[in-house]
Amino acid sequence: MCGIVGYIGEVDAKEILLKGLEKLEYRGYDSAGIAVRNAEGVTIFKEKGRIADLREAVDEEITANIGIGHTRWATHGVPNRLNAHPHQSTSGRFTLVHNGVIENYHLLQQTYLKGIQMKSDTDTEVIVQLVELFVKEGLTTTEAFRKTLSLLHGSYAIALLDAEMADTIFVAKNKSPLLVGVGEGFNVVASDAMAMLQVTDQFVELHDKEVVIVHKESVEITELDGTVVERAPYTAELDMSDIEKGTYPHYMLKEMDEQPTVIRKIIQAYEGDNGELTIDTAILQALQAADRLYIIAAGTSYHAGLIGKQYFEKMTGIPVEVHISSEFGYNIPLLSEKPLFIFITQSGETADSRQVLVKIKELGYPTLTVTNVPGSTLSREADYTLLLHAGPEIAVASTKAYVAQVAVLALTAYVTAQASGKGLEFDLKQELAIAANGIQTMIDSKDVLEDIAEDYLKIARNAFFIGRNVDFYVSLEGALKLKEISYIQAEGFAGGELKHGTIALIEEGTPVFALVTQEAVALNIRGNVKEVVARGAYPCIIAMAGLEEAGDRLVIPHVHELLTPLVSVVPMQLISYYAALHRRCDVDKPRNLAKSVTVE
Ligand code: F6R
Repeated sequence: MCGIVGYIGEVDAKEILLKGLEKLEYRGYDSAGIAVRNAEGVTIFKEKGRIADLREAVDEEITANIGIGHTRWATHGVPNRLNAHPHQSTSGRFTLVHNGVIENYHLLQQTYLKGIQMKSDTDTEVIVQLVELFVKEGLTTTEAFRKTLSLLHGSYAIALLDAEMADTIFVAKNKSPLLVGVGEGFNVVASDAMAMLQVTDQFVELHDKEVVIVHKESVEITELDGTVVERAPYTAELDMSDIEKGTYPHYMLKEMDEQPTVIRKIIQAYEGDNGELTIDTAILQALQAADRLYIIAAGTSYHAGLIGKQYFEKMTGIPVEVHISSEFGYNIPLLSEKPLFIFITQSGETADSRQVLVKIKELGYPTLTVTNVPGSTLSREADYTLLLHAGPEIAVASTKAYVAQVAVLALTAYVTAQASGKGLEFDLKQELAIAANGIQTMIDSKDVLEDIAEDYLKIARNAFFIGRNVDFYVSLEGALKLKEISYIQAEGFAGGELKHGTIALIEEGTPVFALVTQEAVALNIRGNVKEVVARGAYPCIIAMAGLEEAGDRLVIPHVHELLTPLVSVVPMQLISYYAALHRRCDVDKPRNLAKSVTVE
């Protein structure tokens, strides 16, 4: 959450910073700002709202070849111009952008900054005021920066300018992601490589608690105690076309359309020389050695984890628990003797999941991250990584990453089961290819899905999604998609659970989306539909071919019964998308949200 950028080089920094922030806007869009330094000093431009608003506010006349920028997802202090970054020290000498949360900011303020009039309600301002205080007490800026960092508790990615130093950006991180990009005669700073692909594809990873001094021609990394760190840059394997919208009106639509290709890419990526699906031997051994798997994830990734549980239990016989990461850390269940922890995270940066990973590593248990972002924090810090190969997901609402997570979990369970001699009577590679075609059929049914969205949701106050077995898990995801982008109150329920309370909410015309893809429970869920219809609900039954009945609103192509979530989620995504459009919502940047949730 929040994105930061920095540039030091030979050309004007403004456009590079603004373009970088546009690429990071998915990380937060409550306010945005840049600070640039030239011979006249440091100038700050900042605005509440989007980067487009910031662009309007920037004075083209002012040029400078060093600067920093920020796009905010508000934590401390309401989203307004005052709380927008960059923040400045009282004298104006130091200017800073920050992503993260300083947990002890109040204590620091009380201890060190009592006489200082704060200009904002943010935790961030404390950092920049502390640097100034320590410089006034006689430290150099580098020393003051180090001393300040040593006092901070919490998460941070920071870029700091000193108005008296024309050639330096001070940089540091703890828990929040940050990279330095290197180029010929310039260097850059960014929360995510995507932001600076415009100027370089060479990036240096930064580790927690390192202090980095970025000049035009050099990058000096040291640990907090001053020990010098040597680290070579890596090449970011990203293509500009992966991160552009092209002719699509929204990233979300582009990313939903990419889903069949994502499945095919996963098949290719996990295909061994003999054409069979395979995973890294060390990961396979870790899975086989485990007596219980603990899946840890948040949001959409948690929903994929619920389906993963079914895969592992049904195919391999290994028991699985699935936990919401923000709850697990405070309430660790009794663990089995040989657990393996699987973190599912599109971004690889989710703070709630990371705090569990840190705890689990302390306890000494093996860890596997399933992520879309190679080199992300959770990928680096876990013992093993399985990649999703979905390509960058930029829309805040996750779509293709969910489908990729489900496919990679199915594949991992399948390969583990095969290696353990479990007789599986289907060819997953072939079934995944059939599912990819099924997804394509759904994508080609956009007209029908748009009609459904208009019919059921254009003026709806609320909506229910019901299903049984895996259809219940997909219902949870369908409800999440709808509420996050259209702001319609939506809930996913196990069909049988409705009558234990929630059915009280059904009124005349309440939309109820019911999934029917599992033969064993098809009659039961249809029974639940009858119950809500008897109370006035407006049902939309989405059934898999072979289980359909007259009156069903949509029939989805037949796929292997374990893989139905791959296909049944797609109409949920598209219906949510069109509902949001009908209600004139900002599909790619829903209110109050951010793509990468890097605060706990
Ligand atoms: C919803 C959505 C979120 C994320 C959640 C976890 O569309 O995207 O619910 O799934 O914030 O994020 P990752 O997977 O990056 O850990």
